[in-house]
Amino acid sequence: MRVVLAPMEGVIDDLMREILSEINPYDLVVTEFVRVINQLLPEKVYHKLCPELRNGGLTASGTPVRIQLLGQHPQVMAENAQRAVELGSCGVDANFGCPAKMVNRSNGGAVLLQYPDKIHDIVKAMRDAVPADQPVTAKIRLGYEDKSLFMENAIAVYEAGATELAIHARSKTDGYKPPAYWEYITEVRERLPIPIIANGEIWNSDDAKRCMAVTGCDSIMLGRGAMSLPNLAATIKGVEAPYTWSQTLNLLLNYTQKQLVNKKIDYYPARVKQWFTYLNKQYPEADVLFRELRVLKTAEGIIAILEKAHEQQLATNG
Ligand SMILES: Cc1cc2nc3c(=O)[nH]c(=O)nc-3n(C[C@H](O)[C@H](O)[C@H](O)COP(=O)(O)O)c2cc1C
Repeated sequence: MRVVLAPMEGVIDDLMREILSEINPYDLVVTEFVRVINQLLPEKVYHKLCPELRNGGLTASGTPVRIQLLGQHPQVMAENAQRAVELGSCGVDANFGCPAKMVNRSNGGAVLLQYPDKIHDIVKAMRDAVPADQPVTAKIRLGYEDKSLFMENAIAVYEAGATELAIHARSKTDGYKPPAYWEYITEVRERLPIPIIANGEIWNSDDAKRCMAVTGCDSIMLGRGAMSLPNLAATIKGVEAPYTWSQTLNLLLNYTQKQLVNKKIDYYPARVKQWFTYLNKQYPEADVLFRELRVLKTAEGIIAILEKAHEQQLATNG
């Protein structure tokens, strides 16, 4: 079984990748997308988004990191793909699923799902530009407004020479609403000979089992679930029980320490609050704490609340 940490723009940044890959046996993590418009981006853009490039393209605990690109011009995507790989990214991924209005208005992301030929040309140009031993992969949704082109798009990616394909089993119109339509992934997996990574609505190990049973895929990708239950991949691989709230609080404090060391303290309150919106789904205790800390604007106030809650947990659980 392969478990991949999904790209999540504005949520899973380098520090989150570091933390989650340290406590989970992820086989691969994918970066937030790099927006490619009409030029070869400077190296500093890549190093900022993916500091792991200075560590051989690996997280601190050794998990391979793949840069994701989002763009619409084959030649420029190709040049940037080549650069990402030269700088040390473990292959390169193309985003054809982003639903953001800004991105779609400029013809990037999910809007391309209406044009399988364009998807083909982008992936092919990237494939031709990157050494054959480096994976060129793509991530798609099932469609833009409807799902009528899901197979055409998957075939376009395959015929362009992609190494593997991740499928978020919803159209752009479906947004992030349950359910995920895993049965479409089954059809693609049965039709195409490349590995297919199944993605969407995997929140616990039972979901993972069902998803793999329905799709026949042995590769899955975890997004919001990975933020909601921090050791989700470890539980899916059967190496650990789901974290208790006390363990998750401990992890939050560890994350806090790392943010302080990185001097990203201004940005910390928003990030912690955002993480709580995911933790709330898994832990009733997170909801209670969130009510206290959501009004706080400073890191100090939030840290004090987290530390107090952690001490209380330790006192209660011994
Ligand atoms: C806040 C947020 C940001 C995301 N950013 C990206 C992104 O940068 N690239 C991408 O391919 N998908 C992105 N996605 C989609 C996820 O990778 C994933 O496909 C989706 O959340 C479904 O998986 P899940 O049900 O496990 O969350 C994002 C999703 C969310 C909720």
